[in-house]
Amino acid sequence: MLVDHWGRPLRDLRISVTDRCNLRCTYCMPAEVFGPDYAFLPRDELLSFEEIERLARLFVTLGVRKLRLTGGEPTLRRDLPDLVARLARLDGVQDLAMTTNGLLLPRLAPALKAAGLRRVTVSLDSLDPEVFGRMNGLGTHPQRVLGGIEAALQAGLGVKINTVVQRGVNDAGLRELWLTLRKLAPVRFIEFMDVGNHNGWNLESVVPSGEVLARLSEGADRDFTPVNAAYRGEVAARHRDAQGHEVGLISSVTAPFCGDCSRARLSAVGRLYTCLFAAGGTDLREPLRAGASDEALQSQIAAVWRGRTDRYSEERGEQTRPLKVEMSHIGG
Ligand code: GTP
Ligand code: 5AD
Ligand code: SF4
Ligand code: SF4
Repeated sequence: MLVDHWGRPLRDLRISVTDRCNLRCTYCMPAEVFGPDYAFLPRDELLSFEEIERLARLFVTLGVRKLRLTGGEPTLRRDLPDLVARLARLDGVQDLAMTTNGLLLPRLAPALKAAGLRRVTVSLDSLDPEVFGRMNGLGTHPQRVLGGIEAALQAGLGVKINTVVQRGVNDAGLRELWLTLRKLAPVRFIEFMDVGNHNGWNLESVVPSGEVLARLSEGADRDFTPVNAAYRGEVAARHRDAQGHEVGLISSVTAPFCGDCSRARLSAVGRLYTCLFAAGGTDLREPLRAGASDEALQSQIAAVWRGRTDRYSEERGEQTRPLKVEMSHIGG
């Protein structure tokens, strides 16, 4: 079995299909940086669906069992269901998911489901129109995301909801958000992380997951019961409330989970990153376009994974590392 320097297997591949997004979340693509003049990647720089499929097949040969499409916002990539269909056909893929802001799901959910997508994780940080509008940078109303969640459920896709928590920004509304959204899908609260280079992260704006759980428990249903991890390396620590609703806590800052990290990330231009906080990646597009054989590409990927030593969240401390890959290139 292929393992990295710390003995961690390669199980999970997250594939970014575009660096564009139709939101400007302050913690990911702040509008001051990603403005009208920002140079997004030109189309011919992006991997084609054939190229993505080929690389995904090689990763699966090396042990990957779970594929997740990300962005930017993956639904902005034209003909996305065609890519989903190609990936769904690969032998050995046990799970095919997508992380999305949900805005385009009313239009796309049925086609994505029909193509073989199993589930979506939809980001929604607040139900307060003013707070959400500020966080997403464009004043977009939370009802539009709720419409996307509804469409995904109707189409028969599995759904989870991601909420990034920032102190003094959306933490006041967490309990209300939980009481509303728990009826729709499991909600996962993510500690604000120092991804990329532009989001003004500091430790004071992180609300530790323990505090999030305490806030959810205020009042009526006090007790949460921990749920065992579904698989080794599961990112979210899950709990259930008295009615069986599930909450996940993603504590990358206060309880890092690098020890079991089996995730590789492929950017839209075909760079391989072995950590969400990596400074650099390995270009796979160049050899791919120069005609490298499957064997050559596979051994290049295997060599990168074998040499992998990343454990950023365990080493971070209070200081963030300068010059990290942008979240919009690898999609979280
Ligand atoms: P499931 O397959 O549903 O268990 O998904 P997942 O936990 O892999 O979910 P998802 O991709 O939605 O990850 C949730 C969030 O956790 C991401 O958007 C990131 O913010 C964070 N996250 C995921 N993987 C990592 C990781 O390897 N390191 C760090 N630091 N954060 C991560
Ligand atoms: N900290 C925590 N989570 C983040 N995400 C994006 N940027 C950050 C950050 N700085 C989350 C989004 C989405 C997923 C792609 O990653 O909310 O759920
Ligand atoms: Fe877009 Fe998601 Fe980043 Fe928000 S977090 S700007 S929705 S890619
Ligand atoms: Fe994996 Fe890097 Fe996240 Fe640690 S910080 S869990 S090594 S992606």
